[in-house]
Amino acid sequence: MARNKITIVGAGNVGATTAHIAATRQLGDIVLIDIVEGFAEGKALDIAEAAPVQLYDCNVTGTLDWEKSASSDIVIITSGLPRKPGMSRDDLLAKNVGIVKDVSERIVKHSPDSIVIVVCNPLDAMVYAAAETTGFTKNKIMGMAGALDSARFSSFIAAELGVSVEDIKCVLMGGHGDDMVPLPRFTSVSGIPLTQLLDAGRVAELIERTRKGGIEVVNLLGYSAYYAPAAGAVRMAEAILKDKKTVLSCCTYCDSEYAVGGFFVGVPAILGGSGVEKVIELELNKSERALLEKSVDHVKQLAAKVDKLL
Ligand code: LAC
Repeated sequence: MARNKITIVGAGNVGATTAHIAATRQLGDIVLIDIVEGFAEGKALDIAEAAPVQLYDCNVTGTLDWEKSASSDIVIITSGLPRKPGMSRDDLLAKNVGIVKDVSERIVKHSPDSIVIVVCNPLDAMVYAAAETTGFTKNKIMGMAGALDSARFSSFIAAELGVSVEDIKCVLMGGHGDDMVPLPRFTSVSGIPLTQLLDAGRVAELIERTRKGGIEVVNLLGYSAYYAPAAGAVRMAEAILKDKKTVLSCCTYCDSEYAVGGFFVGVPAILGGSGVEKVIELELNKSERALLEKSVDHVKQLAAKVDKLL
């Protein structure tokens, strides 16, 4: 039986960490691509050399050559400029649209049947750019944000309550920006509603910290987060490659769903072998709907900017 093949575009912090986590979970053979001579090769060699210690059997190849990515099952796009202190994700749009367009054209050429997971920012706009460029069916192109933002929210809740991270289940919606919509009403601790365990004021503070979770790391490190983003990307790849039917929030195409009208935004969905298999429509209350609409409007504005640049 042939192994799955995963191409990761960009061997920077997010790409290389994604490759390493995917290897440790033995998701398949990995091709790591970068434009800097020797960079992806070096990272791939290093990851391959950890295999006898961490006990994974997979080939990890670093290359400049897209031919080596041919017929991948999944392509994860991490290439693009990351944020520096003082920058919003939206500040990256103009530069990263060009990169995502170029990468998407190569994906069409070399892996026309792949499923694409976009990780670079501004996330929702980059998913739109990749979808417009590839023309892939909408269920096969998606963005990683909800998995990261939910992980951040869950980690804060677990620390606050002194419980296992395994026990936290939460739903986040909207764009991957400061107006993302964490939903405490749909957050539980082993089935116990969060709202019964934590007072509303503290919940609001954790939501605010989640919304600013990306910049909190940027301000500490001087550049973007990568362990949690990479873990989020691998979680999505694993759900697809193992056909797990995992319910998680991801940036996916919504038309009638939540009355979005044909854009890619973060919503809870089922991820399995064919990509996004179903968007789950929650009954939101008035204030949740208002927050989602505001976030979706922002995503639409970014998509309009992408249209001008493609
Ligand atoms: C973050 C970046 C990767 O949220 O968007 O850390």
